[in-house]
Amino acid sequence: MQHNGFKSSNRIVQWIEYRLPIFSFLDQQVGTQYQAPKNLNYLWNFGSLAGIALIIQIVTGIVLAMHYVPHGDMAFDSVERIMRDVNYGWLIRYIHANGASMFFAAVYIHIFRGLYYGSYKFPRELLWMLGLVIFVLMMATAFMGYVLPWGQMSYWAATVITNLFSAIPWAGQSLTEWLWGGFVVGTPTLTRFYSLHYLIPFVIAGLVILHIWALHVHKSNNPLGVEVKGPKDTIAFHPYYTIKDLFSLGIFLAIFGFWVFYFPNYLGHPDNYIPANPLQTPPHIVPEWYLLPFYAILRAIPSKLGGVIAMGASLAILFLVPWLDTSRIRSGTFRPIFKQFYWLLVADVLVLGYVGSQPPEGIFIHLGRIATAYYFVHFLLILPIVGWLERPKPIPSSISESEAGTTQEASGRSETGT
Ligand code: HEM
Repeated sequence: MQHNGFKSSNRIVQWIEYRLPIFSFLDQQVGTQYQAPKNLNYLWNFGSLAGIALIIQIVTGIVLAMHYVPHGDMAFDSVERIMRDVNYGWLIRYIHANGASMFFAAVYIHIFRGLYYGSYKFPRELLWMLGLVIFVLMMATAFMGYVLPWGQMSYWAATVITNLFSAIPWAGQSLTEWLWGGFVVGTPTLTRFYSLHYLIPFVIAGLVILHIWALHVHKSNNPLGVEVKGPKDTIAFHPYYTIKDLFSLGIFLAIFGFWVFYFPNYLGHPDNYIPANPLQTPPHIVPEWYLLPFYAILRAIPSKLGGVIAMGASLAILFLVPWLDTSRIRSGTFRPIFKQFYWLLVADVLVLGYVGSQPPEGIFIHLGRIATAYYFVHFLLILPIVGWLERPKPIPSSISESEAGTTQEASGRSETGT
């Protein structure tokens, strides 16, 4: 039987396909009929890894939810019970906790890949912005998840972050109390965080479908940043990229297993094994590693409202990157000046992360302010100016031409359409 170019001799597949053409759909989207650029490197594997990390978080999270008790008096003990008494509860919990780190690691590499190869440029701006909405929701989900064990870090992180809303002029205090469901962080706060922590990953899953839909309209960008010109530039997604994705999944799971089985608490904070105590503030309140750069920006401004605005702006600015980058050339490979500033930005974000992990005193105050200022300078000044002034290297006219070594001077609108 053949339907929409899809062939199968399996009678069950034929029966389903005739009534619901799901097999031909998958074949067109992730199968033999989907033609992807043939030169994608391993950095293009992180999208599928992020997708698998999301599935792992949802599956382990649902099992944890069967045993977790969202109540201020019982949450901490219920987590201890999961660790000690529930069959393989320790494994499920460690997978979920370290899975969050693996998920963020995959997504950070995915974002920085996009920044280097100009994947945010025309016609993939909306794809980029959908990714950023996913990223913001991931941060909210991870923050609320960290509150659930109701340890000291959970409690005080919730207090610090929810208190940020009190910086909003006039309505701030009422808004914060409305968020808390009381006059301090307590059981009502915990139950609403639990509810949202369960809900948002499914919203993320829906957005991932839109993200991939948008991706499949114009297909992937590639390391050269030139559009696919014809069948000579592509190969079938299956079996070539499915097997490549499976290979990277093996490595990803090996690293994941390394954390889970050898250093399950390394990325966590020991204070979170102390039950929440509203009467005792821990000496240093630090978020998980993946939130540290944004935490550093939040603390870089001496006023609470200013910090909240700066942190919001540091995320908002990423939505404008497709328009702030004025270069006609997509890929950083052909942009000698951009490339150097790109690595400076990477270093700057690492510095911000380090500063976020340190107490806000002495040198870290200055370092945090300089790194925050540079973050904004990169996007608001360097990106547009370098785009205007830089003389790019000659780009290949197509992917297959690049193999033959033919290049052309970067010209006009043809490559990025901008
Ligand atoms: C749950 C999180 C996410 C999942 C599951 C996901 C999934 C994917 C997949 C499967 C691809 C195609 C394979 C690849 O290019 O790696 C992709 C491409 C892309 N994603 Fe994501 N993504 C996520 C988050 C993000 C975020 C946070 C951003 C940006 C801020 C983003 C921006 C992009 C862009 C620009 C592309 C096209 C890349 C290119 O073709 O060069 N994604 N995504």
